[in-house]
Amino acid sequence: MPYTVQGVVARGKGEAVSLETVHVPDPGPGEAVVNVQACGVCHTDLHYREGGINDEFPFLLGHEAAGVVEAVGEGVTEVAPGDYVILNWRAVCGQCRACRRGRPWYCFNTHNATQRMTLEDGTPLSPALGIGAFIEKTLVAAGQCTKVDPEAPPTAAGLLGCGVMAGIGAAVNTGGVTRGDSVAVIGCGGVGGAAVHGAWLAGATKVIAVDIDDRKLAWAKEFGATHTVNSSQVDPVEAIRELTGGDGADVVIEAVGRPETYRQAFYARDLAGTVVLVGVPTPEMTIELPLLDVFGRGGALKSSWYGDCLPSRDFPMLIDLYRQGRLNLDGFVSETIGLGDVEEAFAKMHRGEVLRSVVVL
Ligand code: APR
Ligand code: ZN
Ligand code: ZN
Repeated sequence: MPYTVQGVVARGKGEAVSLETVHVPDPGPGEAVVNVQACGVCHTDLHYREGGINDEFPFLLGHEAAGVVEAVGEGVTEVAPGDYVILNWRAVCGQCRACRRGRPWYCFNTHNATQRMTLEDGTPLSPALGIGAFIEKTLVAAGQCTKVDPEAPPTAAGLLGCGVMAGIGAAVNTGGVTRGDSVAVIGCGGVGGAAVHGAWLAGATKVIAVDIDDRKLAWAKEFGATHTVNSSQVDPVEAIRELTGGDGADVVIEAVGRPETYRQAFYARDLAGTVVLVGVPTPEMTIELPLLDVFGRGGALKSSWYGDCLPSRDFPMLIDLYRQGRLNLDGFVSETIGLGDVEEAFAKMHRGEVLRSVVVL
C-alpha cells in the first residue's frame, strides 16, 4: 500500500524548509521504497533551497542517507526487502557512452525515480539529487541502493552517500594519491576533511590542510593532516611550497569552489602535480591564468564528480575499512538531529560550526 509520511520540503526559493505530509507510492518496476534511518545535511540541500540548482520547487531535501529496503517493485533483483543500503545519486543506465567507457559517474541517462512522491494536494516533489531522504520512507530506483554490511551504523554509513565519498574519492579516485605523495587540501569542511582523510588513507606522507578557520584545521588533524596552514594569516601557496621543499604538492585538492582558492591550488602544485577541483563553483565564476604558466607545468587539472566513485565498489570497501577501525566516519558527525531541525542545521553549517549534522529517524 502507498505510504503517508513526514518529509522536509523546500517550497520556494530562499524560504525556510517545512515538515510536510508526503505521499510515497508503492514501488513500480525497477523501484524500491527505503526506510531511511539517517541522512546527513549537505550544502547541496541548502543550494536547492536557495534555488541555486534549478527552480523545480517544491523539493524534497536530503540525499546523504542509509536505511533498510521496505519494498521493491517488479523486476527488481539488485536488492530485496530487509537489505541495508546506502543511497546514491544515480541509477546508471549501463548503456550510454560514459557507462560503456567505465565512467558511469558521467551517465546522463539515469533511471532514477523522479517526481513520483507528492504533497497531500498531489503536487509532485522534486527529490534532491534524485533521492529526497529527509523523510521516513523514500522512493528511489533500485539501482540507487547499494547493499553494505548492516553492522555499520546508519549515521556513519549515510555519509558515504555524498560529502565524505566526494572528498575521499577526490583524493583517491580522481587525484590518484598514492604512497609517499605530498598532498594539500584547500578548504577543510566536510568534503575537504574527507579529502584529507582519503589522502592519509592512501599513504600520503605529507598532508597539508589549508583553511581560514582554525576549528576546521583542528578537525583536519584528526583525519590525518600532518601540517596545517591558516590561509587568512599566511600565503597558502608559499606555505605549501615551503612545506614541500620548494616543489609544491603532488596533488592539490580544492574543496571550496572559489576562484581565489582554485588559483592557489594551481600555483601550489608540483610542476608535474595534479589539481583536483571538487568544490562547486557558481556559473559567474571565472579565473584568468597566464598561458605560459599553464604551458610551463605538466601534470593535470581535473574536476571530481561525486569523487568519481563506483558505489558498488567503493561503498562496501569503505564500510569494511570503517569496521576495521581504519576509516574515521564518526569524526564527521558533529551532531544528530531530528527531521524538524534541518533549518537550524543549515544555520550551523553556515556559521562553520559543524562538519555534518545528521538527521536520525
Ligand atoms: N580559503 C580556504 N578555505 C576556505 C576559504 C578560503 N578562501 N573560504 C572558505 N573556506 C573553507 C571554510 O572555512 C570551510 O571549512 O572551506 C570550507 C568549506 O567547507 P564547508 O562549508 O563545510 O563545505 P563542504 O560541505 O565541505 O563543501 C565544500 O564542495 O561539494 C562542494 O558544494 C560544496 O562547494 C562546496 C565544497
Ligand atoms: Zn551532498
Ligand atoms: Zn549511462
